[in-house]
Amino acid sequence: MPQVTIHVQPRPYQAWIENGLLTRAGSVLGDLLTRASRVFVVTVPPVRKRWGSKLVSSLKGAGFDVQVVPMPDGEIAKRLATIETLAEKFARLGADRKATIIALGGGVVGDVAGLLASVYMRGVEFVQIPTTVLAQVDASIGGKTGVNLVAGKNLVGTFYHPRVVLIDPKVLKTLPDREFRAGLYEALKCGIIGNVELFLRFEQNRARILKRDPVELEWIIAQSVKLKAEVVSADEREGGLRRVLNLGHTIGHALEAETNYRRMLHGEAVAWGMIAANNIALSVGRTDSVTAGRIADAVLSLGRLPEVNVSPRKILARLQSDKKTQNGVVHFILPREIGKVEVVSDVPDSAVLDSVDELRRLSRGGWVWGKQRRICRKQPSSISAESSATSKVRTRLKYKEPLRPS
Ligand SMILES: NC(=O)c1ccc[n+]([C@@H]2O[C@H](COP(=O)([O-])OP(=O)(O)OC[C@H]3O[C@@H](n4cnc5c(N)ncnc54)[C@H](O)[C@@H]3O)[C@@H](O)[C@H]2O)c1
Ligand SMILES: [Zn+2]
Repeated sequence: MPQVTIHVQPRPYQAWIENGLLTRAGSVLGDLLTRASRVFVVTVPPVRKRWGSKLVSSLKGAGFDVQVVPMPDGEIAKRLATIETLAEKFARLGADRKATIIALGGGVVGDVAGLLASVYMRGVEFVQIPTTVLAQVDASIGGKTGVNLVAGKNLVGTFYHPRVVLIDPKVLKTLPDREFRAGLYEALKCGIIGNVELFLRFEQNRARILKRDPVELEWIIAQSVKLKAEVVSADEREGGLRRVLNLGHTIGHALEAETNYRRMLHGEAVAWGMIAANNIALSVGRTDSVTAGRIADAVLSLGRLPEVNVSPRKILARLQSDKKTQNGVVHFILPREIGKVEVVSDVPDSAVLDSVDELRRLSRGGWVWGKQRRICRKQPSSISAESSATSKVRTRLKYKEPLRPS
């Protein structure tokens, strides 16, 4: 089974990646945690319904005293009020300093349960069992926890590493299609940043990946985790190196904010951001057209993306206002060749404006679909294809621009 070590202070930990791992979670944790400890599984209703009982019976089978503590679903629940409500519940249930909190869910559950674990009784044991692609390849690795404020995303949080991360790619089979693909862009990002083999896998085995072939998923997730683990191990608290993980995020975050977090999932905004970074790299002479073409095709062939209907000037203005919060510099992560990126801080405004214009052109009239970048006939209204629950939650979001990347 692939096991990846994340080398951080004061204690390194491992991410285990294996199909079917959820049913073995009890025995794995039995070896790591003292069985006397009580286990509290924080999760959301859609995940509890599909995967909760599997985890609970595995834990009970290994002799753990288990309690499921549900929280509301969606980004809207990622706020301090949820931490307080959960903490009160924990106290009522008698959770003490020996308690272990397990996050079973996507990035929202991981961020909330992680923050809670870091402050409840001044810190209790924490385990991540991520259930979205995004959480498996990104959010569960690296120790960032957090909640949002009205003033911006992830403005209150801690660095708090879990004891272990248990990744079972099989749980992805119940993930809504759009959420699934949005997470894949973050995995593809890892290939572009520093893993040529991973990128090639996306080029060569795309159909199997999109069909959620468990063997394919296990492999690409393990490779993505490995890359993130290497970067985090080298730069635990986000100095310079960890910045490379923000490929596609500079413009991606601006697109999300400019569309009020309603039109695009995070991964979709990152997909467009990677195409923009690609165009910028080409226009400032940092990469060649063959590399840029391969990256664009790899991104666009993963599926439909929402239309980019924003003003390039407004995107530029957002980047410039972010600049104030980042010591006066906007850092772009630009691809150089497949598996190599560089941090560039002197990108001319004209290149940014052109790159956003190009996104508008590429996506005009509908969603972009397919390798040849032909435009899908469907009109933007087809965005309502996203699950009604998700869209309801997302349309209720009212954050101002993020002040720093998540
Ligand atoms: N801590 C970090 O380093 C980090 C990194 C990246 C993103 N994040 C955060 O992660 C969050 C986004 O995470 P996300 O994309 O996983 O969204 P999410 O947690 O909201 O999950 C998306 C949806 O999928 C559902 N779901 C989850 N797993 C499922 C499954 N197996 N089957 C069926 N439905 C399932 C959830 O209930 C939810 O409705 C953001 O808040 C972001 O800020 C954190
Ligand atoms: Zn991201």
